[in-house]
Amino acid sequence: EKGTYPHFMLKEIDEQPFVIRKIIQEYQDENDDIKLDADIRNAMKECDRIYIIAAGTSYHAGLLGKQFIEKLANIPVEVHVASEFSYNMPLLSEKPLFVYISQSGETADSRSVLVQTKELGHPALTITNVPGSTLSREADYTLHLHAGPEIAVASTKAYTAQMAVLAILAVDTARAKGIELDFDPMQELGIVANAMEALTDQKEELEDLAREYLPVTRNCFFIGRGIDFYVGLEGSLKLKEISYIQAEGFAGGELKHGTIALIEEGTPVVALATQENVNYSIRGNVQEVEARGANSMIISMKGLDKEGDAFVIPHVHEILTPLVSVVPLQLISYYAALHRDCDVDKPRNLAKSVTVE
Ligand code: M6R
Repeated sequence: EKGTYPHFMLKEIDEQPFVIRKIIQEYQDENDDIKLDADIRNAMKECDRIYIIAAGTSYHAGLLGKQFIEKLANIPVEVHVASEFSYNMPLLSEKPLFVYISQSGETADSRSVLVQTKELGHPALTITNVPGSTLSREADYTLHLHAGPEIAVASTKAYTAQMAVLAILAVDTARAKGIELDFDPMQELGIVANAMEALTDQKEELEDLAREYLPVTRNCFFIGRGIDFYVGLEGSLKLKEISYIQAEGFAGGELKHGTIALIEEGTPVVALATQENVNYSIRGNVQEVEARGANSMIISMKGLDKEGDAFVIPHVHEILTPLVSVVPLQLISYYAALHRDCDVDKPRNLAKSVTVE
């Protein structure tokens, strides 16, 4: 039920802080340790490489999951689009673990890979919002997202839930491997939930940005470096899916290798600047597109912000910024679609779960 909300998408965006708190509760035991099935812990610890398989928004969460697992737990991770992996399987390591990320647990492209990797005898873990789903039943292990039903075709709360669960899994694996971390995931996710709540209270400001930057444009670019780049990919998918604006996410440094040719007078460019190590260089990329006439907006994080930034998110742990920086992108996409009279919850040509290959 939508209750007083005009659309499920808006309701689901607003639910994100509660979903993160629910995940903290579900994945923590009485001693404040991470609560996770011992078999999953062992599978993570024993493998020599993780292969994440997913589609769409879940694939974007996988790209960030790779960052968490590699940086915290020191295990190499490959992330693959399910529909590509099916017929173009890379060389596998000796002890692979397959991780399927799927909100619905019904995506046919991912299932087809699962069938193949099971046949090869490789263990599989499904991370899903629907525990009884096909991908959950057919995998060896399941991690539940606890996000509650997601109705809008555009995925929002499942994406942030996927990243939260992946971060917890990464920390649990690191601890199981005896890696000392200066990072308490539950405490940091609590800070993330509060930051999300603050952002969902800033809807008017974000609606104004959508009105100012995206009123009649046919296209829009999202740029970022490092993990901001991956969030930009998700921001661009959200925008194109519901507003039909042609949107592309690019790595800031890659623009000059071709794409910058598309920048014209007034082209909107959304730049994410939440990472200290690339703050200077992404701002340099913004100057490059501005010099070619772009109408750019910088979304930065408190502590790294500069005068003139269009929007500043609250400060959270650097590795968890995607969970927070995506919220303004979700809301800007929502309002851009609304201003264009698009069917926000049921965009044309799309289904909530894609059960055909
Ligand atoms: O249910 P899944 O997570 O497997 O779905 C994968 C994609 O179809 C899905 O994320 C799609 O890209 C969304 N509509 C994006 O908002």
